[in-house]
Amino acid sequence: MYSASLTLSNYLLSPPNLMKNAEILDVGAGTGFFTTKIAEKLCKHLPTASFYAMDITPAMLKMLSKKTADVLLFLGTAENVGASIRFARKHLEIPEKFDAVYSTLTLHHCVDIENVFQSIHEVLKTNGKAVIVDLCKHSFKEFKKEMGDIHLGFQPKQVKEKASKHFSMVQIEKIPGIRCEVSGRSAELFIAYMTA
Ligand SMILES: C[S@@+](CC[C@H](N)C(=O)[O-])C[C@H]1O[C@@H](n2cnc3c(N)ncnc32)[C@H](O)[C@@H]1O
Repeated sequence: MYSASLTLSNYLLSPPNLMKNAEILDVGAGTGFFTTKIAEKLCKHLPTASFYAMDITPAMLKMLSKKTADVLLFLGTAENVGASIRFARKHLEIPEKFDAVYSTLTLHHCVDIENVFQSIHEVLKTNGKAVIVDLCKHSFKEFKKEMGDIHLGFQPKQVKEKASKHFSMVQIEKIPGIRCEVSGRSAELFIAYMTA
């Protein structure tokens, strides 16, 4: 069965291989719909990997904390992951840099998406991998009021242009056959694969 979490996990597991003890961060994890699935799938191949999840909303992390004890959670912003980590490191054991960083359905909540790419790049180790899944351009203006969306999705070309300023390799594809559904309205999804 084709799914966004499977597509994302497959990229993280594809060559160049992550180390068995890779450190992997989810930015804007929310209640962990993807976080837990991806951690489960990756653990089968990377048995000593460590998983971390960050979000700007404490209530989201509280819900995620009830789902799993295997992911270390901390507060932070996608636009400044580095500073969020430095602050969290005062109280928690969190790496300064990661082997892989991913983010799902958070980019359209961020005002300046180029800051997000820059900030994810800053916390990746040399040759680290990043993956972003988000909405393709859509016309549902009411999502701004209903869900606090800032962007009505993105043209893949626009994302590639911003990401390419910070990553050595950027590849973007629409995810076939899967759409983000909200009360009968649906938007296509894209996946952006990046290497530091
Ligand atoms: C639509 S939810 C997606 C949650 C999860 N990644 C998923 O795919 O189910 C968007 C999440 O992004 C978080 N968020 C919004 N703006 C953010 C920002 N600037 N930095 C970090 N997280 C942010 C919200 O708190 C929310 O949990």
